Amino acid sequence: MVKASIARFAGAVARLPLYRRIAEAASLDDEVASLLLLADTDDRNPTLLFAAVHDYLLAESDWAASPGTSLTAHGQDPLADWYPSLRGQPTQVSDGSGDPWPHFRRVALDEPKVAETMATRGTQTNEVGRCATTVPALGFVQRDVNRPIGLVEVGASAGLNLRLDSYGYRWTREVRGSESGPSANASGRDGHDSVELLPGRPVMVESRWRAGRRPAVPTEMVAIGARMGIDRDPVDLSDTSAARWLIACQWPEQVERLERCRAAVREARSAAAAGETAPVRRGDLVDLVGPAVVALPDDSHPVVLATWVLTYLGPEGQRRFLAALDGVAASRDLTLVLQEEPSAAPGLDLPPRPDVRSVPGPTALCRIDWRDGRRGDAVRLADQHPHGTWAEWFA
Ligand SMILES: C[S@@+](CC[C@H](N)C(=O)[O-])C[C@H]1O[C@@H](n2cnc3c(N)ncnc32)[C@H](O)[C@@H]1O
Repeated sequence: MVKASIARFAGAVARLPLYRRIAEAASLDDEVASLLLLADTDDRNPTLLFAAVHDYLLAESDWAASPGTSLTAHGQDPLADWYPSLRGQPTQVSDGSGDPWPHFRRVALDEPKVAETMATRGTQTNEVGRCATTVPALGFVQRDVNRPIGLVEVGASAGLNLRLDSYGYRWTREVRGSESGPSANASGRDGHDSVELLPGRPVMVESRWRAGRRPAVPTEMVAIGARMGIDRDPVDLSDTSAARWLIACQWPEQVERLERCRAAVREARSAAAAGETAPVRRGDLVDLVGPAVVALPDDSHPVVLATWVLTYLGPEGQRRFLAALDGVAASRDLTLVLQEEPSAAPGLDLPPRPDVRSVPGPTALCRIDWRDGRRGDAVRLADQHPHGTWAEWFA
C-alpha cells in the first residue's frame, strides 16, 4: 500500500528530477516506505516523508534565508548538496556525478528526528501564489461596494495570504511555449503584456494570464479595513520549528515558489515582532465563520476567502458552510471569494466555465454575493493553476 502510494507520488513529481529519483527508489524499498506507517492514517502521504527529511536538512541552517547562506549542522549533510533549497548551485541529479538516494536512505532511516517528525506532524502549506488571483477578485468586490473590505480567511494556515496587500504583483501575458514560469516570459514588460501593482516589494507574486484576457487589476491596492483567519490547525510563525516546517513541506526544486514562501514568512515574522498581526483563530471554519463575519467593523464589507480548503469538508460540509453564510446574511451583506477544484466541491454547486467547455483539472476562482439576505448565483471569474501560476480570466 505505502509503496504503491510512493510510486504514484513519483509520477506526480516526474518533472522534478531529485524527488522523482528518490520517490522511485523509495517505492521499491520496504524499510524506507514503512516509515510512512509511523504517521496517523489521515497524514499517511508520501509528501510527509519528503518533508520530514527536508526539515531535518533545514534544521539549524539559516532556513529563512536564501539558499547557500550560513549553512551549519544538518545543512552540511552530503544529501543537502542535491537540494536547490539549501545550495544555490546544487548537484544535478541528471549529470551522472552521483546519486542522492543512498544519502536520502541513510538520513531517513538513521536520523531519529525524521521518525519523530513522521509520527508527530502532518503536512501543512500556505500558498502565497494564490494572492495573484485573489487580489483582482477583491478589486471587483471593492469597486462594487466602495468600502474597505473586512477579510475573513477560512483555512488560513499561517495567515500569509491575509497579508496580501503588503505584497507586490506582476501579471504577464503568457507566451505560447514559455510555460515553465513567469521569468521564462521575456517579452512582456512594456505595459501591454504585463501589469504591476506595488512593484519592488520584498515579496513579489507573479502570474501569467492566458487565452488573451488580461486580469482586471485594480489601479490601487484594495483597502482592507479588518482581517482575521480561521484554521483548525493554525501555523504559529513565532514558533521557529513550525515556521521551518511550512518551508520543509514545499518541494525543494520549485525554487521560485519556495523563495516566495521564505520571503513571506520572513516578512510575517518581522511584522509580528513589530506588533502588527493578522490573527488566525483555531477552530472549525463552519462553526466560526458566522461569528467572525458578525464581529467585523460595520463600515467594512465582509469578504470570506476560501482557497483550497472547502474541498476538505466533503459535500455535506460544503453545504453546511454555505448555510452558515446564509445565516449571517440575514444581518449583513457579504461576499465569498473561493479558489477550489469544482470536482472536489460538489456541495458548492459551482457554475461551469462560460464557454461550457469541460476542462479537467483547473481550480475555479468564483464569487458569490449575499445581498438583502439572499444568496446570488456563483460567478466563475477565472480558471487557474492551483497555485495561481497562471489564470484564464472570464471576468
Ligand atoms: C491546503 S491548506 C490551504 C491553506 C491556505 N488556504 C492556502 O491557500 O494557502 C488547507 C488549510 O485548511 C485548514 N482546514 C482544513 N479543514 C478545516 C476546517 N474544517 N476548519 C478550519 N480549517 C480547516 C487546514 O488546517 C489547512 O491549514
